[in-house]
Amino acid sequence: MRRTEIKSLLQSRDYGNEVLVQGWVRTKRGSKNVSFIALNDGSTINNVQIVVDVDDNSAAILEKVNTGAALSVVGELVESAGSGQKVEVHAKNIEVLGIANPDEYPLQPKKHSLEFLREKAHLRYRTSTFGAIARIRHNMNFAIHKFFHDRGFFNIHSPIITGSDAEGAGEMFQVTTLNLKDIPKTYDGQVDFRQDFFGKAANLTVSGQLEAELAALALSKVYTFGPTFRAENSNTVRHLAEFWMIEPEFAFGDITDDMNLAEDMLKYVIGYALEYCMEDLSFLSNRQAEEEKSKKTDERSMELIEKLRFVLDKPFERLTYTEAIDILMNSKPNKKKKFQFVIEGWGADLQSEHERYLVEKHFQKPVILTDYPSNIKAFYMKQNDDGKTVRAMDILFPQIGEIVGGSQREENYEKLYNRIKEMGIPEELMWWYLETRKFGTVPHAGFGLGFERLMLFITGMSNIRDVIPFPRTPMNLEF
Ligand code: 4AD
Ligand code: MG
Repeated sequence: MRRTEIKSLLQSRDYGNEVLVQGWVRTKRGSKNVSFIALNDGSTINNVQIVVDVDDNSAAILEKVNTGAALSVVGELVESAGSGQKVEVHAKNIEVLGIANPDEYPLQPKKHSLEFLREKAHLRYRTSTFGAIARIRHNMNFAIHKFFHDRGFFNIHSPIITGSDAEGAGEMFQVTTLNLKDIPKTYDGQVDFRQDFFGKAANLTVSGQLEAELAALALSKVYTFGPTFRAENSNTVRHLAEFWMIEPEFAFGDITDDMNLAEDMLKYVIGYALEYCMEDLSFLSNRQAEEEKSKKTDERSMELIEKLRFVLDKPFERLTYTEAIDILMNSKPNKKKKFQFVIEGWGADLQSEHERYLVEKHFQKPVILTDYPSNIKAFYMKQNDDGKTVRAMDILFPQIGEIVGGSQREENYEKLYNRIKEMGIPEELMWWYLETRKFGTVPHAGFGLGFERLMLFITGMSNIRDVIPFPRTPMNLEF
């Protein structure tokens, strides 16, 4: 007999049919005569109710049916008398495929804290919350590929091991096969990387952008979607040491095209979630509402689905960094020194408290900031004629702060070369990148979207550790 997945079983109205369902027990309750088992197989957030008549035979089996146990059930599909579900299964035969001893199984049918579940990340997929997040994550992954594919962008696989620091921020994980107990040194006491695996220093990538640019300067429209590693020691609810980034790059376009593409993409994927993930979103929305009730402050966040629709409704606000600094300098929290980092003037790097003030308090919608000071941005951004700003664009979202960072790229060889020199970036690591500006250079642009930041926004979860299955953060490498 073929197994029916619970998702399609719940939509079936073929009452009287014999079905095979397999899944894991969420709860079991009942009386002397009848037992009700809520079974879930992950195909949907919803459980199917299995009704079991208790007799001598089934009583022995039911003893082994505890939360977390895996079952294979053959029974009759019947119309449900109870509210909440249309169908249920009257069991004829139950086989316990895998027991879960209730004295040992950590996930009992009660509310567990997210902190507790992080310690049980090998099992947390089995909770409704993490099942919902996993299904949404899959759908968002798919929607992003679909968005770009439908618009003629080609997916490029950029390397994970690299010799260059794309962001120039020096926050790289080193990759080596050298014996750490006996590191070879050069005559002047430096590590002798000539003896290492690649014959030179190697790192995990912080961005696929530079390689995406090479591809864009031949294929016109490309994107990468890969793992990204940053050894920045920031233990915040928005930073991971290993995260996934989507980086489109296109030739023959400028910063306005870049902003339009990013805004379209964000709206597309949020719209996709509303169309295809509604059951999971509704669950997460209720979950968030419960959580809000138990909060001590009276600051309330917007209902999840309303918040997603809200972003779709209006165009994002676009303004320059300089205009944003003016707003922030004149803002109440800055004047009253309520910001942790008070803005003293033009040139300040914006912290997430400033970004969130602009989005949540001042404009009350997503904001795109452009034309940042060149000295707080990466070397590859197109220099403006004013000599002090670059054609950068960051998209700021409620609750998140920066969700997208991008720019038009400097396509002029001399200007790029001078910037690389100015910033002390070793030319021998960048020769290939510079050559693209010598041969057939064109205006081009791109951006990076942090996939987990998008997931935070869409699920309404508040800690980035809860939207990736196995988070990597400082001092944390379990599983
Ligand atoms: O602003 P970033 O550093 O930009 C780049 O890496 C460019 N190369 C992108 C490009 O133009 N192709 O990072 C882009 C985005 C951020 O806006 C943020 O959403 C996310 O990546 N991000 C992180 N997400 C989780 N944990 C971290 N440590 C992150 N650092 C950046
Ligand atoms: Mg950035």
